[in-house]
Formats: sequence, structure tokens, C-alpha cells
Amino acid sequence: MIAGRLVRNDPAQYDLLVDEWWRPAGGFAALHWLAASRAEHIPPAASPDAVLVDLACGGGLMAPHVARLGYRHVGVDLGLPGLLLAREHGVLPVQGSVLGVPLADGCADVVVAGEILEHVEDDVAVLAECARLLRPGGTLVIDALADTWLSRFVMVTVLEHVSGGAPPGLHDPALFVDRQRLLAAADRLGLDLRLVGLWPSMREAVAWRLGRRETVRMRPLRSTAVVFAGYGRKR
Ligand SMILES: C[S@@+](CC[C@H](N)C(=O)[O-])C[C@H]1O[C@@H](n2cnc3c(N)ncnc32)[C@H](O)[C@@H]1O
Repeated sequence: MIAGRLVRNDPAQYDLLVDEWWRPAGGFAALHWLAASRAEHIPPAASPDAVLVDLACGGGLMAPHVARLGYRHVGVDLGLPGLLLAREHGVLPVQGSVLGVPLADGCADVVVAGEILEHVEDDVAVLAECARLLRPGGTLVIDALADTWLSRFVMVTVLEHVSGGAPPGLHDPALFVDRQRLLAAADRLGLDLRLVGLWPSMREAVAWRLGRRETVRMRPLRSTAVVFAGYGRKR
């Protein structure tokens, strides 16, 4: 889509958008809000060598939160420009696919998979990688876009055409996530997982849009029909 060359969801788009990662009012602003929201569900590290694996870490937006919690922050992504940026923010970068992560079984105290399940052909395979990487008792935090007409309408039809919304072409609505299938897979994989909906505080989003706030808090919602988070634990 971008420059008429790339198709929807082509990961190469992130390489072209590398300057957006750390701009608080840039194209990835909502990913900053989600990173802060994820961090609220991660316990402080139990030891100095505790590891958090951040699948599809992009430019490393979880970095300040993970550092504050005391983890060694390992970030996995396909894109080198994003990984190099993440490294500048303290992330230990690993280039690889979330569908076959080049890290050992049980190496992680925490696995985060933020806004990646809706970018791959096989979201359950990513969840299986989360389960493989986690030690028993380890914490899982995910967020993604639901496979519903409302989600496709809001995230693609509307927000791709609103300044401050998602950059056009990043999402392929055909890949949005079937929540029931995900929950069934989690159970098979030995993950206790519960889903909640998330939506930005509208009051804060308006203030952000007017330049009066740097960030916006994500609020929990009963409906998981658009943006949803999953909080879990490996049995
Ligand atoms: C929407 S961004 C999310 C980034 C980050 N998790 C965040 O929330 O700030 C999606 C990221 O997934 C990466 N990505 C896409 N497909 C991937 C794959 N198969 N393996 C690893 N990374 C992938 C892209 O390079 C991009 O950095």
C-alpha cells in the first residue's frame, strides 16, 4: 500500500516507518499507550537475571517499562531497523520470526506478544511459541485485534483515514484474531488465559490530539470485539 509498492501487512512497512516508533504523537502513538497498559500486568522481576521476551518488539516501546520492573529485556523481531532502535533503548535484540523464535524452551519469566497475533497467518503458532518460551508459572501478556466486523470497520475503514490513527496498510483485516479459537488453543497449550477489551480514554485522547497530553491511558472494556488484551500464566 505504501508508495503503491507494498501489500497490506507487509512487515517491510515498519522499516520505512522506523522514525515513527518513538514519536509520542506519531503513527505508532497508540502502541505507546498499549505498552504502558501491558506493563500494568507484569509483576516486578523476582531476580536480577529474570528475562522478559518481547515478541515482535518493533522499536522497543516496552523498554522503559521493562527496565523499571527489573527484567533483562530480550526483543525478537523480523525488522533490523526497529531492532537497532530497540537496542538503543536497552533491549537485547534477536532477529527472527515469532513463528519460530531462536530462543530456548522455558527461558522466559514473562512473554509479551503485543499487536503481533493479527499480523501473522497462524496466530495459534505464535501462542504455541509463547507457551514454549515460558517457564512454568511464567506470565503472558498479549494484545491484538479481534476478528469482527466492528474491528475491521473501526481499525481499517475509520482509523486508517483519521490523522493520528493507524498508518494505512499496516493491517490486513483477514488476519484479525478469532478469540474463541485463541482461548481453546491456550488451554491445549497449558496456558490459563483471560481476555479483556481495551479502549483509549476518549477524554485523554481528545487532550492528546489537541497537544495537551503526551500519552493516553487504555481503559478496560467488557467487550473484546475490537482491541483485546490477554493476561495469562503457564501452568
Ligand atoms: C504492530 S507492530 C507491534 C510492535 C510492538 N509489539 C509494539 O506493540 O510496540 C508489529 C511488529 O511485528 C513485526 N513482525 C511482523 N511479522 C513478524 C514475524 N513473523 N516475526 C517477527 N516479527 C514480526 C514487525 O516488524 C513489527 O515490528
